[in-house]
Amino acid sequence: MTTPERYTHLKQEINFHLYRYHVLDAPVISDVEYDRLLLELQQIEAEHPEWVTPDSPSQRAGAVISEKFSKVRHPRPILSLANAFGAQDARAWFERIRKLDERVASAKFTVEPKIDGLSVVLHYRNGILAQGATRGDGEVGEDITSNLRTIRAIPLQIPVDPSQVQAAIPEYLVLRGEAFITNHDFDELNRKLAESGEKTYLNPRNTAAGSLRQLDSGLTAQRPLTILVYQVVYAEGGPIPTSQWETLQWLQRLGFPVTDVARRFDTLEEAIDYTETWDKGRDTLPYEADGMVIKLDDLGLAAELGFVGKDPRGAVAFKFPAREVTTTLLDIEVEVGRTGVLTPRASLQAVEINGVIVKNATLHNFDYIAEKDIRIGDRVLVKRAGEVIPYVIGPVTDARTGIEQPYMPPETCPACGQPVEHFEGEVAWFCVNAACPAQLLRNVEHFVSKGAMDINGLGYKIVEQLIQSGLVKDVADIYSLTREQLLGLEGFAEKKADNLLAAVQASAAQPLSRLIAALGIHGVGEVAATDLARHFGSLDVLATARLEDVQAIEGFGPNTAASIVDWFARPANQNLLAKLKQAGVWPVSQAGESSAGGGPLAGLTFVVTGSLPTLSRDGVKEFIEQHGGKVTDSVSKNTSYLVLGENPGSKLEKARKLGVEVIDEAGLRNLAGG
Ligand code: IVH
Repeated sequence: MTTPERYTHLKQEINFHLYRYHVLDAPVISDVEYDRLLLELQQIEAEHPEWVTPDSPSQRAGAVISEKFSKVRHPRPILSLANAFGAQDARAWFERIRKLDERVASAKFTVEPKIDGLSVVLHYRNGILAQGATRGDGEVGEDITSNLRTIRAIPLQIPVDPSQVQAAIPEYLVLRGEAFITNHDFDELNRKLAESGEKTYLNPRNTAAGSLRQLDSGLTAQRPLTILVYQVVYAEGGPIPTSQWETLQWLQRLGFPVTDVARRFDTLEEAIDYTETWDKGRDTLPYEADGMVIKLDDLGLAAELGFVGKDPRGAVAFKFPAREVTTTLLDIEVEVGRTGVLTPRASLQAVEINGVIVKNATLHNFDYIAEKDIRIGDRVLVKRAGEVIPYVIGPVTDARTGIEQPYMPPETCPACGQPVEHFEGEVAWFCVNAACPAQLLRNVEHFVSKGAMDINGLGYKIVEQLIQSGLVKDVADIYSLTREQLLGLEGFAEKKADNLLAAVQASAAQPLSRLIAALGIHGVGEVAATDLARHFGSLDVLATARLEDVQAIEGFGPNTAASIVDWFARPANQNLLAKLKQAGVWPVSQAGESSAGGGPLAGLTFVVTGSLPTLSRDGVKEFIEQHGGKVTDSVSKNTSYLVLGENPGSKLEKARKLGVEVIDEAGLRNLAGG
């Protein structure tokens, strides 16, 4: 069946499916079927290389240009647009052209999005994509045909669906459109690059432009480029529409991707209203648009009006306010949040973005600075959009002079000078000094909270007051507050002071687990605190625990263990503990918390599998804990016994493998003392 007819048919069919997929977003066959067609095409082309034509889908990727692109002279100048900033500017434009030609007074307008991409020119000869070029200086562009062919939304042959087109199409047709990358595809691309540790791109526009100027079109093919076509630049040998609105519809019927945001209006005021709705709604567009273009719909009239310099009189770009600007990164400052997180902040050469002077911008975190290779002194791209805090997108590396300084995150906290910590698997860097002034407020709040020492009457306002007055410099100071000191504070009468002191006194008797939770050690919440209290029995023991001692507890991974050991190793924290001890806030493990202390099963860890003769799931757990033992979910080398019932699961196998001793309910009761 390898005939030239079959080959021609196959080309058309594949091109049609590319159109369904990339232009209409409505494929009619599955990927598998598509791949099958493509394979057949490739086989025919391998057998008959002499049959291959430029409109074959196989020509969409491949060619490498030797050195640089050759020049292409455009058949007509590729014009630019004059800008209008706001409705008044647009009305002034209208008045100017109305004075030149009275027909303007009753003219219609077509409004389209002004996509922030790269203007490209496409040449079709007898319906086949013959050449593609950049805009260049408007007169001469660069031949990027093989790169444009990789954009699947660009038809290689038109009309893609002949049933849509009645009249013959021009033998030579030159079109203009905007090539770009959607925001979604751009984010995906950057996410993948970041994942594989590669450098990410600054914004969709630069990425699209860079991709189209690749000498190796194989690289272009890997970028998610697409296009919207909006203008007939030149036509020979066939009629073309005479209005902008009809042009868009005609291009669509030929199989080109055309914006679905365009509208035609009878008056300029309606056109302005529509433009303004998109100014507010620009974030709902799937691509970056820097404005809307208001065009005289009558292309004959527009042509007669001529142009000023490179700007046609018949259209105007109604610009949205800019959201991205470049400025100089003067310095990187570090702020310590109330949770101890260190956040880098860009100090910028002041710059106006959309009516606001911006001097600072977020840099997200230290990884971000490293990933983007942001250096002090860099020219940086800053974005301020809507309610979002201004942020640094990245450096303009082309603007580097060599004096830019790579940035290193601080090793000590800028607020207290203590070494900072970075926890494995987390992005943030922390100051973990409990007495760090930047965190004191939050530490005290946490210390007195319900799940911790639960000091009634020590609300946020009072904590703030105590810190501001200098009475509380760390959490231990709470226990040395006196009646006289409190009475000296605003809003404190005798009763309030006495109540607070009583609550403070009462809290000194809280169990050890609560005190451990109150310390605010990174990664240690109420559950972990209870485990630590049980296991170590006192702060004296816990404070000297080694990494392996902590890790030996079921459920404590290396990160949490390191965080705990580190906390106790810090002199500032040791100081705090000494003060607490002196103040008599030094509980030891109590019944219920205890395993080190009491019970025949103390120090033993059990795993239960299957159903036991008399004890229920919860019952056996309670039984073991009441006797000082501990129950965990999975068997490990730290498991002392596996308690075996009927219909055991895979735990039995694991216990055997690890050599863990297996007992039944009777055996458990024996251990517990009968
Ligand atoms: S019309 C005579 N329409 O904006 C026609 N331009 O600042 C002049 N652009 O270089 C262009 N979307 O790359 C027109 N719907 C649109 C556009 C558009 C984006 C770009 C185009 C041009 C620039 C003018």
